[in-house]
Amino acid sequence: MPPARKKEPDPTNPEMEIAAPNLTPHEGTGRITDWTEQDFVDRFGAPRTIRGSKMPWESFRNLTEDDLRAIYRYLRQVPAVAYETGPNVRAVGWKAPGSAP
Ligand code: HEM
Repeated sequence: MPPARKKEPDPTNPEMEIAAPNLTPHEGTGRITDWTEQDFVDRFGAPRTIRGSKMPWESFRNLTEDDLRAIYRYLRQVPAVAYETGPNVRAVGWKAPGSAP
């Protein structure tokens, strides 16, 4: 199941940024690698969890279940990419530990 979120950013705070997750099926750095197809469909019926996120959750609620299943199956087929996107909400300039400066 998708993990519950606890923190919300303050979209008016210029010291914070919001980053999109890695959606490739990579074990370790992919956000949805462990999600079932039903988890994915259900997430789009659930509310926005991060205030100020650029992800258009409200419009995407209009995607049909067939659309969402097709998108999920597509995302399962893209090559897994090892890329740590880090916390969705973090200080501007955040870098993954060990990444190039
Ligand atoms: C069909 C297109 C898209 C799909 C399938 C998709 C899927 C997802 C998923 C599954 C998550 C993780 C949610 C969670 O952990 O609960 C996510 C998060 C996010 N997405 Fe998207 N996304 C799409 C388009 C976009 C677009 C157009 C933007 C920005 C312009 C965006 C920005 C973000 C951001 C910033 C997050 C992290 C914050 C959050 O969870 O709201 N995404 N997306």
